Amino acid sequence: MAFKDAFKTFPIIETKRLILRSMSKDDALTYLQWFSTKEVREFLGSLAYPKNIEESLRFIDNMNGIYFTKKRTICWGIALKESNELIGRFEICRFIRQSMAEVAYSMAKEHWNNGYMTEALRAVVKFGFEIMDLHRIEATAATENEASAKVLHKAGFITEGILRKYNYGNEFRDTYIMSILNEDYFSNVVNGQNV
Ligand SMILES: CC(C)(COP(=O)(O)OP(=O)(O)OC[C@H]1O[C@@H](n2cnc3c(N)ncnc32)[C@H](O)[C@@H]1OP(=O)(O)O)[C@@H](O)C(=O)NCCC(=O)NCCS
Repeated sequence: MAFKDAFKTFPIIETKRLILRSMSKDDALTYLQWFSTKEVREFLGSLAYPKNIEESLRFIDNMNGIYFTKKRTICWGIALKESNELIGRFEICRFIRQSMAEVAYSMAKEHWNNGYMTEALRAVVKFGFEIMDLHRIEATAATENEASAKVLHKAGFITEGILRKYNYGNEFRDTYIMSILNEDYFSNVVNGQNV
């Protein structure tokens, strides 16, 4: 499969415990509720989460439109396989020349620290390199957001540096820029590391 094939039918990704699937308007309330917890919002910037049900519905609608019409971003809802409960969101976006992309994610606080986001990230990295044939995947994480930096490291990302006082909407934070390259990924696979 090549880059453009990832935009033909919505790609559903299954891992051991999770299903990454598209979000629908039935998910809007759950999606809104995650962000009522301050800690989930803390490192996201004020434009990155919905404040009411209308914004939540609009976000889901926009994301699906961007995928199907503009072919620019894939936004998955992360659901538990066992119960189909929606627990998080995962985006791969900002594609440059069908070769580079960025990932971003968030999860409901009651599900933190179970390894779920690392599991989702590893699966999307695999999808990005093995299916979309990307060259580089990058991510940013505020330097105070140790959980996010840890998730990225566990999935094989390397810290390239710090973006000083990066813009988070209403505030500026020192922010790690991190990446994994196609060659890192495949050499880790060859060496049997779990990325
Ligand atoms: C970042 C986030 C997605 C992590 O999801 P998660 O499912 O809890 O991640 P995992 O369980 O796979 O891994 C978290 C790791 O961080 C560690 N961790 C958690 N809080 C930490 C802290 N304050 N300091 C250091 N490490 C921390 C956990 O122990 C775990 O590492 P381990 O497996 O070695 O024990 C989740 O915290 C979140 O949604 N945060 C709010 C939104 C956000 O910040 N998104 C990312 C923006 S860049």
